[in-house]
Amino acid sequence: MHFNTLLPLLSLLSFTEAAETLLGAYIFHRHGDRTPKSLPPANLTSLGYDQVFSSGQYYRSRYLTNSSSKIHGLNADIVKLSQLAVTAPVDNVLQNSAMGFLQGLYPPVGETIGVQTLANGSSIQTPLNGYQLIPVNTVSTGAGSEDNGWLQDASTCENAKLSSNNFFTSNEYTNLLSGTKDFYSQLVPVVNGTFAASDVTFKNAYVVYDLINVAEIHNASIPSNSTLTPSTLFKTRTLADTHEWGLAYNASDNMRAISGMQLAGEILIYMNSTITSGTAGSSANKLGIQFGAYASFLSFFGLADLPAANSDFMGIPDYASSMVFELFTEAAVPSGGFPATSDLQVRFLFHNGTASNSSEPVVYPLFGGSDPAISWNDFANGMNKFAVSTTQDWCTKCGNTTGSCAAYAPATTASATPVPNKSGGGDGHGISPAVGGVIGAMVTLAVILGTIAAAMLIGGLRVVSKKTPAGAGVASQSVGVEKA
Ligand SMILES: *[C@@H]1O[C@H](CO)[C@@H](O)[C@H](O)[C@H]1NC(C)=O
Ligand SMILES: *[C@@H]1O[C@H](CO)[C@@H](O)[C@H](O)[C@H]1NC(C)=O
Ligand SMILES: *[C@@H]1O[C@H](CO)[C@@H](O)[C@H](O)[C@H]1NC(C)=O
Ligand SMILES: *[C@@H]1O[C@H](CO)[C@@H](O)[C@H](O)[C@H]1NC(C)=O
Ligand SMILES: *[C@@H]1O[C@H](CO)[C@@H](O)[C@H](O)[C@H]1NC(C)=O
Ligand SMILES: *[C@@H]1O[C@H](CO)[C@@H](O)[C@H](O)[C@H]1NC(C)=O
Ligand SMILES: *[C@@H]1O[C@H](CO)[C@@H](O)[C@H](O)[C@H]1NC(C)=O
Ligand SMILES: *[C@@H]1O[C@H](CO)[C@@H](O)[C@H](O)[C@H]1NC(C)=O
Ligand SMILES: *[C@@H]1O[C@H](CO)[C@@H](O)[C@H](O)[C@H]1NC(C)=O
Ligand SMILES: *[C@@H]1O[C@H](CO)[C@@H](O)[C@H](O)[C@H]1NC(C)=O
Ligand SMILES: *[C@@H]1O[C@H](CO)[C@@H](O)[C@H](O)[C@H]1NC(C)=O
Ligand SMILES: *[C@@H]1O[C@H](CO)[C@@H](O)[C@H](O)[C@H]1NC(C)=O
Repeated sequence: MHFNTLLPLLSLLSFTEAAETLLGAYIFHRHGDRTPKSLPPANLTSLGYDQVFSSGQYYRSRYLTNSSSKIHGLNADIVKLSQLAVTAPVDNVLQNSAMGFLQGLYPPVGETIGVQTLANGSSIQTPLNGYQLIPVNTVSTGAGSEDNGWLQDASTCENAKLSSNNFFTSNEYTNLLSGTKDFYSQLVPVVNGTFAASDVTFKNAYVVYDLINVAEIHNASIPSNSTLTPSTLFKTRTLADTHEWGLAYNASDNMRAISGMQLAGEILIYMNSTITSGTAGSSANKLGIQFGAYASFLSFFGLADLPAANSDFMGIPDYASSMVFELFTEAAVPSGGFPATSDLQVRFLFHNGTASNSSEPVVYPLFGGSDPAISWNDFANGMNKFAVSTTQDWCTKCGNTTGSCAAYAPATTASATPVPNKSGGGDGHGISPAVGGVIGAMVTLAVILGTIAAAMLIGGLRVVSKKTPAGAGVASQSVGVEKA
């Protein structure tokens, strides 16, 4: 009798104990605790520095020092720069977070390791007890992410702005805007030092939440203390979640998820280089690390169908959260070589907030499936359904035809040709991207919302918005942001 239950258990055990070798990984990481977006420039705080440093220590113990989970061939103590690629947008909070993380990942090597002997026989150790220098390169997207409240500010993709703006005309948005008026008006005394009362609405759900969240962590004397009950704080956060999810992803209009598409492209390209280097007998390109904003997490979560695994993925990840793609094999790794591509597998892990020995990242199935790991080919095919990997693809999807995109513009020569209506399909608003680019400014959007007959207004909007600098509209979304 007992054998019946034991057998499956045993086979499960032998399966999990099959020798597994980790061959590479890609980490996408949120910054640590910072000052509010509404008071730019935002800075990484001491707490935030500590968070990313701890996370770096955790990943060091996972990928560099633990013999059963280390990445095959990755240097454990002295960094070999060709094995790493560390990137972050041009943004102080994200760049500093990446540096803090690296200090935990590759700490100073001390007085003995890494000493160099010169021609004249004297020995040299680097300053700061063997501190290691690791460059953080910039990625083209997401500049100034942490100083902007309106998520598409960090994108120059026209169709993404248009698509995100569609959220502001959705029923979900308009219902919440009117349904939460009273809720937000009771928050006014708490935030009126930073926001005008008229700006404290669902329209600014994230920046209002962000300001309160930062004050809850840092300010011992936050005003109107009695207002900020646990249930009020919870509602402030979940409304911000809904707001940001709506801007970051929509299944039937997914151009707004461009940051997730680009991230998917970057992950694929890097992991592909892990495989090509390994196959060529090189030890390069083993660990990719990118720091980025929560909005990129949300867009990616939506595209990879992670809410099917857990609806928590529709919430904003906490500071210092990380998601990881691990490339591994259960086949033998030939010495100096690499397993066949058909023997490679990928799994996805996520940790909400700072990962540590006592709270490790958890595996979730990708693409709405149920397998904790999938073959490399299935992974690449799944990602390629939405990944944007080339400039040409970006330009076409974004509807950009000028600047670096001019080379890929449609052959028609007329200079003012409207770009193709590729805003993600099916929105039926009849707003062409040419107009949408203008609408990208939130001031004009407010005009739309204030008046119901949107279609009638479109002609008028062109006139209004031509007098409105794009930046001004943006600032009205991210209220309290004086300068980007
Ligand atoms: C961030 O630091 C700069 C100085 O480096 C300071 O001027 C600014 O006020 C700080 N921001 C906040 C929100 O504290
Ligand atoms: C090394 O990793 C394995 C598997 O992830 C884990 O079970 C073990 O506790 C780790 N060992 C140490 C010393 O952290
Ligand atoms: C050896 O060379 C280094 C660098 O040029 C110099 O700083 C050091 O003083 C030299 N040591 C001796 C013993 O000459
Ligand atoms: C895309 O188009 C917009 C509007 O024309 C422009 O502001 C932005 O700089 C363009 N981006 C690129 C990368 O060409
Ligand atoms: C904020 O609201 C409180 C309470 O209504 C009021 O006493 C205070 O003067 C206001 N502060 C500002 C800067 O408007
Ligand atoms: C903390 O909150 C109080 C009350 O609103 C405010 O006067 C003070 O400037 C805040 N302190 C910081 C460091 O933000
Ligand atoms: C409100 O103030 C009390 C005492 O001053 C403090 O214990 C409590 O943590 C404060 N609550 C919030 C939400 O800040
Ligand atoms: C890596 O990318 C190249 C170029 O797109 C492709 O030909 C190759 O099949 C990819 N390798 C793997 C292992 O997917
Ligand atoms: C992360 O935690 C926050 C609350 O701190 C929650 O709103 C969000 O849904 C969580 N995300 C995931 C993927 O667990
Ligand atoms: C985590 O585990 C590793 C390996 O067991 C150990 O070296 C490290 O000190 C631990 N880190 C913390 C913060 O406990
Ligand atoms: C552009 O819009 C027209 C009419 O709304 C539609 O038939 C066509 O499929 C759209 N093209 C694209 C690329 O979305
Ligand atoms: C998602 O897009 C569809 C089609 O454009 C639209 O009907 C719906 O309102 C959108 N939902 C949100 C939350 O933006």
